[in-house]
Amino acid sequence: MLSYLICPACEGSLDLSIDRTDGYEIIEGELRCSACRSSFQITAGIPRFANLEHVESDKRATATGFGWQWQHFTQEDEQYAEQFLGWIAPVTPEFFRDKVVLEAGCGKGRHTQLAARWGARDVVGIDLSAAVETAFAATRSLPNAHIIQADIYHLPLARKFDYAFSVGVLHHLPDPRAGFRSLASKVKPGGHVSAWIYGAENNEWIVRWVNPVREKITSRIDQRALLQFSKIPAAGLYVVTKLVYGPLNRNGSSLAKHLFYNDYLSALSRFGWREQHTIVFDHLVAPTAFYISREEFETWWRDINARDVVIGWHNKNSWRGIGALPSR
Ligand SMILES: C[S@@+](CC[C@H](N)C(=O)[O-])C[C@H]1O[C@@H](n2cnc3c(N)ncnc32)[C@H](O)[C@@H]1O
Ligand SMILES: [Zn+2]
Repeated sequence: MLSYLICPACEGSLDLSIDRTDGYEIIEGELRCSACRSSFQITAGIPRFANLEHVESDKRATATGFGWQWQHFTQEDEQYAEQFLGWIAPVTPEFFRDKVVLEAGCGKGRHTQLAARWGARDVVGIDLSAAVETAFAATRSLPNAHIIQADIYHLPLARKFDYAFSVGVLHHLPDPRAGFRSLASKVKPGGHVSAWIYGAENNEWIVRWVNPVREKITSRIDQRALLQFSKIPAAGLYVVTKLVYGPLNRNGSSLAKHLFYNDYLSALSRFGWREQHTIVFDHLVAPTAFYISREEFETWWRDINARDVVIGWHNKNSWRGIGALPSR
């Protein structure tokens, strides 16, 4: 991984000193910038380029909620691969083969893990929160997967990536567009970028009814209390998806397409209780969440001069995009 790392302050190269290893993992050590002498600890197997005590309060609040979430909901689900491919379509597992891949906001590492299994030469998953502890455990047995704790706005990475993706992260940043630019800045000329974000279109009801509750209450309460509280909406979701959306969509009933939010809820109907509870918790825990229009999303791709951009409307409530950076 050292060949991908640079000093986030001055872009200098980093010298490694090792205190403890376990197999091929460096468990404890230090990275020191050869230019500005900044130093970064490696603890519990993870290089630490961000310290939550020193980041801005809005980013800290987001990272605290998600850090708790991904240390609690550590389960794996056999449908993660299909779900991931829906978020990055038209990318396929073969696309990852031999590529150097960056995932921004890797959470519990479920997609870092998939990218590594699909044959990426190396995949680096970064996250600001304590979710990195779960991601490290989830990817420890994969020598081509690496986890680091860092802020997407200050990536300690050289511009060496063939493909960078971010799923469900950019809309939680204080400035999503700048976060996207930072991600793309690590991709080599001619490489690809994917992003999946919440859409503004079709989500007016969330902005109007759910956002005030999320902003004023659920993102502010203790996560253990939210874990219990979120079981109430999760139970409602579970009942309607299992009894109504799932059966009507599976039977090809003509009624299904008239149901409220059918594409998304039908997709959720395939998940069990724990995964649905995770999804509800995830929607309620974040202090910051932007709902972004297609028009706004298109400007992000223009910012990075992307070509061959393909923007898709996912589950009729969100945007996914892929594009290539100019070759030179
Ligand atoms: C909804 S989770 C998505 C996790 C993962 N991409 C997935 O789909 O399973 C959003 C993630 O973004 C991370 N995140 C939020 N702000 C960040 C920042 N400024 N830099 C890096 N990661 C950040 C959070 O810690 C969280 O793990
Ligand atoms: Zn430096």
